[in-house]
Parts: sequence; structure tokens; C-alpha cells
Amino acid sequence: MIVLKLGGSVITVKDKPMTPRPETIRRLAGEIAEADVKLILIHGGGSYGHPVASRYGIKGGYSSENQLQGLAETHQAMVKLNTLIVEALIKAGVPAIGVPPSSLIITTDGRITELELQALRGMLKIGLTPVLYGDAVLDTMLGFTILSGDQLASRLAVELGAERLIYGVDVDGVYTKDPKRDEAELLERVTPKTLRELEAASPTAVDVTGGMRAKIEEALRAAERGVEVVILNAMREGIILKALRGESVRGSWVVADADD
Ligand code: IPE
Repeated sequence: MIVLKLGGSVITVKDKPMTPRPETIRRLAGEIAEADVKLILIHGGGSYGHPVASRYGIKGGYSSENQLQGLAETHQAMVKLNTLIVEALIKAGVPAIGVPPSSLIITTDGRITELELQALRGMLKIGLTPVLYGDAVLDTMLGFTILSGDQLASRLAVELGAERLIYGVDVDGVYTKDPKRDEAELLERVTPKTLRELEAASPTAVDVTGGMRAKIEEALRAAERGVEVVILNAMREGIILKALRGESVRGSWVVADADD
């Protein structure tokens, strides 16, 4: 079984509210159909979940009653994006089924502490492809918060014994600097030591590409539990198909090296 997380910047236009990338979504659905593997797909929020979540301060938790409206709108924006993804997959011939994380998960201070897996296990067993997403969820300390698709993907990969976890983003992987601004070198191997070195060299460098640092931390959690983890560029045609098939691709492999 493979867990694939598609970043919000891949499937939406990040700086235009509620704007999907229908062509990219269609192409990726085609690649997933062609790969024909047992898969859980997770997608990010991009310009659907993030603007409304930040307008109401959902991630920081409960501070006023009018945030409930914001929570509802955040979740609904994600449901809409999820529908676009699920419909594209069904059209491509993948028996995809949207699963709302807020119904299965409770966090404590932002980390998953309750996770109902029976439905997901059953869906995988009969050959369905569950499609989850970063979501507004209940939190035992904060009241509610935003659960990132990155944490969800890593946790599901561990709990369900995935052989591979793929993070599809809009850059080739982890760089020494921000590839969109500076000359930067792609790191083909990322370890806990690399993360420390990147932080020491330039405290902001790993954060500028849409939370790459948090992504690496989540990726390392799965790598430590024996999952093969790669961060790659899902905007490049055919790379998701190859990665799902286990063929070699350009990207950053995240490994929890005992020597580091
Ligand atoms: C965020 O999910 C979901 C919401 C804001 C509700 P992610 O954190 O996984 O989204 P991306 O991939 O960074 O857009």
C-alpha cells in the first residue's frame, strides 16, 4: 500500500482564492489510474482551506464563538476541493471515495491522538481508494485546530503499514536554499542531521517553500518507522506514475539514518 500526499500548491493556484488547477488534477488522476496500485490519497488545502482558516484563526484554536462559522467554512472549502479530486479520479476509472478526516480524528495540541481506522482498512481491503485531506478537526486542548495533510499522511502510512509515502509538491524536493529565489542544490538524501544543518545554516531556508521544514519532520516520523519516504515534484508529468510504480525518480529521499 502506498500513501500519496498532493500539496495544495500542486492542485490549486495558491494565491487565488478557491482556484483549482483542473488540468493538473486531470493529469494526476490519469497517472494514479494507470499506476493501478493500492493507495490512500491525501490532498492539501491550497487556496481552498488556507485563506478561510487563517481569516478565522482556526489553527490557534477556540477563542471566540464566531470562529465556529469559520471552522464550518474551512471544512466546507475542503469538501469542495475533495469533490473535484474524487470526481477526476472516478472519471479516470479509479474507485475513489472521499473521507472527511474531521469525522475520524481528534488531535491534542495539534497532534493526532484519536484515529478511527476500521473504515479505511475496509475500503483498502475491497479495493477502494480513500481520498482524505488536511482538515479542521476537534482538539482536546485547543477546542479545534487545523490538521495538516502532511501529518495525516505520515501517520496513516505508519498505522496502515504503507511501504512508501510520497509527498508530491511543486518543487523537485528539499533544497539547500529556496529554489524559487536562489541558486540552490537539490538534496537527494535528507536525514535528521540534514534538517539540523539546514536550520543552523539558514533558519528560514527550510520554511519558505510552503512549510518544507514541517513536511520533513512529518516525513522523518514515517521514515523512522520503516516507511520509504520521498518528496518529489508532482508538477512534472509522469513522475507520480513512476513513483507509484517504484521506479527511480528525481526527488529527495527522507531517511532516518541511525548513524546521523
Ligand atoms: C491544510 O492542509 C488544510 C486546511 C487549511 C484546512 P495542508 O497543510 O496539508 O495543505 P497544503 O498542502 O499546505 O496546501
